[in-house]
Amino acid sequence: MYFRQIHDSASNALTYLLADEEAGVAVVVDPLRSQATLILAMLAERNLRLVHVLRTHVHQPARAECGELCPSTGATLILGADSPAEIEGTRVEEGSEIRCGALVFRVIDTPGHAPGSVCYLCGDRLLCGDTLLIENRDNVTADEDPGCLFDSVKHKLLILPDETLVFPGHDTRGRTISSIGEERRRNIAFTQPSREAFVAETRRKRRRQPHMQESALISHGLGKW
Ligand SMILES: [Fe+2]
Repeated sequence: MYFRQIHDSASNALTYLLADEEAGVAVVVDPLRSQATLILAMLAERNLRLVHVLRTHVHQPARAECGELCPSTGATLILGADSPAEIEGTRVEEGSEIRCGALVFRVIDTPGHAPGSVCYLCGDRLLCGDTLLIENRDNVTADEDPGCLFDSVKHKLLILPDETLVFPGHDTRGRTISSIGEERRRNIAFTQPSREAFVAETRRKRRRQPHMQESALISHGLGKW
């Protein structure tokens, strides 16, 4: 598998390019509009054809189109079945499989961070957007449902094998990769004693940092258009 993690220093967003080089096909996960030229160059360099653009979640529908990527490559935009975003694309639900050559991406329905958020599991790699950030959650966005997020992470993600590699949608103080085993032991948010404690802590964060909400949303909106 050809695998590249692309970091955007302005928003700390992480985008992923995965490809079956033998078959000459690729997928991009959560690209920024500003990365279209870079991604097209990366595809050309390896002689890869982009078949899908996968979105883990959408905060701002207007920013969630493919940009240049889909029209210029013929790739399909894929997003969660329950995403309220009014965007043209293929909707996928829990258990759906997306194929790209020999690569298979299994959809895990994980609402909470944003309505209709999903994660994609490709072999031992979990592409989880902002549903599971490494060790902590500093940003609480206005459209986040903390109870729903807790259930998704606890019951859908932290049940995966310890060695599953976690590739988040943003870095945490420069850390860009983790594992389910590490997050189960160390993630401050999800080692809260209960769902109620997690929800209460999230609400406290919102109250303590009301000024953060808009900036977090803007950062997310720009990062995850
Ligand atoms: Fe987000």
